[in-house]
Amino acid sequence: MVQANKKSKEPQQPTVFDLQNYLKQQKGVVEQALDRSIAIAKPEKIYEAMRYSLLAGGKRLRPILCLATCQLTGGTVEMAMPTACALEMIHTMSLIHDDLPAMDNDDFRRGKPTNHKVYGDDIAILAGDGLLAYAFEYVATQTKNVAPENILRVVACLGRTVGAAGLVGGQVLDLESEGKSDITAETLSFIHTHKTGALLEASVVSGAILANASAEDIDKLSQYAQNIGLAFQIIDDILDITATDEQLGKTAGKDLSAQKATYPSLWGLEKSRLKARELVDNAIAQVADYGAAAEPLRAVAKYIVTRDR
Ligand code: FPP
Ligand code: MG
Repeated sequence: MVQANKKSKEPQQPTVFDLQNYLKQQKGVVEQALDRSIAIAKPEKIYEAMRYSLLAGGKRLRPILCLATCQLTGGTVEMAMPTACALEMIHTMSLIHDDLPAMDNDDFRRGKPTNHKVYGDDIAILAGDGLLAYAFEYVATQTKNVAPENILRVVACLGRTVGAAGLVGGQVLDLESEGKSDITAETLSFIHTHKTGALLEASVVSGAILANASAEDIDKLSQYAQNIGLAFQIIDDILDITATDEQLGKTAGKDLSAQKATYPSLWGLEKSRLKARELVDNAIAQVADYGAAAEPLRAVAKYIVTRDR
């Protein structure tokens, strides 16, 4: 009795969401799953090349977002893990191809020599192709306790996201815009929403689909994702100017030397930072109705504008 009274007088401490710890823990869980996802088989070289880039580290934001939205909308980590791994396979393959001499010709990624620098252009192209194909196989064969029609919806969503309506389309316009000084904000927004935003949106939406979320929830979460997707790319462009090679794990300052269209080149650093913060506020507003359960999504949105790498 005395103890109960004592307890009721204790001030209620608001729980502070520990983002650093959450990201570290989720990254660990995802990396273990990624390590298990591809075993070395014959011919060893291609599996090694695929694993080299897939397991090279990185923020693992896409898988983390997929797991978070699946849990937020009533699903489990187990239901979403194969899709979470597939999203990272797709992201990794897009970076392997992006770094090729025929595209951005980059030597470093995630603090290590790029895939083609280690394995040659031919194997790097094939490692990307192998990861892309395996991502779809992995979702289709490894997803458990999810209705088959929802697995099919996720496969369709991923297909649309990587194709000409998504990453491929964004990359084409990005390459075509290099060296041009008359790129409009509209073109830039198309590049960013397709090249980067599409996969972040698919990460969030696929998690919700796997949990069989309502159309209303999917719509809100997709708005959240569109906002963080654009903010993410704006911050990427800012960091390309302000951060060091060591911080980024890749060559900084490449956008300027390749005369790439970016928000900082169009608007300057300050206006770009302001725009990114505005987008994150919009994203957070989209998940207001979920209360404390959406804390991971709010925290990831804040992390996107405060990150320094
Ligand atoms: C990095 O952008 C590149 C991307 C976000 C995606 C590139 C997309 C492709 C190569 C198409 C891939 C093909 C399929 C089938 C998905 P960046 O060059 O601005 O950033 P960086 O400085 O990190 O290289
Ligand atoms: Mg690049």
